Amino acid sequence: MQRYYFDHNATTPVSREALEAMLPAFTEIYGNASSIHHFGQAARHLLDEARKQVADALGASAEEIVFTSGGTESDNLALLGGAAGGHLVTTAIEHPAVLQTAGRLAGWSCVPVGPSGVVDPDDVRKALKSDTALISVMHANNELGTIQPLAEIVKLGVPVHADGVQALGKIPVNVRELGVAMYSISGHKVGAPKGIGALYVRKGTKLKARQFGGRHERERRAGTENVAGAVALARAMQTHVDTEALRDRLEHAVLRDIPDAHVNAAGSPRIPNTTNIRFDGIDSDALLIALDLRGFAVSSGAACSSGAPEPSHVLLAIGLTREQARSSIRFSLGRGNTADQVDALVGALAESVTHLRKLSPAYV
Ligand SMILES: Cc1ncc(COP(=O)(O)O)c(C=O)c1O
Repeated sequence: MQRYYFDHNATTPVSREALEAMLPAFTEIYGNASSIHHFGQAARHLLDEARKQVADALGASAEEIVFTSGGTESDNLALLGGAAGGHLVTTAIEHPAVLQTAGRLAGWSCVPVGPSGVVDPDDVRKALKSDTALISVMHANNELGTIQPLAEIVKLGVPVHADGVQALGKIPVNVRELGVAMYSISGHKVGAPKGIGALYVRKGTKLKARQFGGRHERERRAGTENVAGAVALARAMQTHVDTEALRDRLEHAVLRDIPDAHVNAAGSPRIPNTTNIRFDGIDSDALLIALDLRGFAVSSGAACSSGAPEPSHVLLAIGLTREQARSSIRFSLGRGNTADQVDALVGALAESVTHLRKLSPAYV
């Protein structure tokens, strides 16, 4: 059976260019970048080049880039290291890497987000306290794709951390223009392997290390550097995948062919690869499995805790009922998807939704 992947916000295949770029760092230039001998210096050189390329791609300078293991670590470092002892303001639609870390700080406030899936900067302002050390607002939401008004939030005058994991590679990202103090990125969302990411830390931003054992990354993140990963990340960041026309084709065809389907947060500014669609009367996990059996990989956004699937906190936060949240599916496109695949997906969706609705007492 042919299989098609529409879950690029979960992870992406490693691109051929990134793979080829990183291979020498496994087998030929394998030194420890902290060693002073030839092997170490060769690895250091690769790492320095990668750091410069990542910085250039973000509009930053090399010493402002801290390599990490991925988005989760970058978010943890930004919050625990950048807001330590102070109050944090964040939003109800953040990734758990931010929300669950926020709960470990001295104090934090969570700003609600309406049906648009976009936070109102004025609500962020109202949540500020005299001891607010950091605001953390994602650049693009992983489930809805909605783009957050970072430039306006930066104007509030408090250092801003942005989780840019889902924005990178999909919309232009220039940290200097955005004005953020910190920005998280993750390699495996953009065609680099799992296990590499970075945190941009603007010069002068206070950041306490969260792991210890060496002076790596200018004493901001101890641990032998993942040189191969850094090289792959740098290479992957040089490619931009344009999927907007395919995403629009998918949305138009679904709304045309399937009754009672709704695009969540449709009118808001969104990254061009993501659409989150609600099918009335459908259980999203049943639809996900039906599509998987037909060869299409999508995401239901539901998190499984204690054995029972919980509806997505993002969809509940934008005002959907539990039933509506549990009838929503995320489609995220990427390199490799084609118009033919999209058309085949719409056909499989139409058949699966019709079949499941016949079985559903909730759909009349
Ligand atoms: C918005 C966002 N932040 C953080 C992460 C975590 O990144 P990683 O998988 O690299 O730890 C993800 C991954 O899904 C994400 O979508």
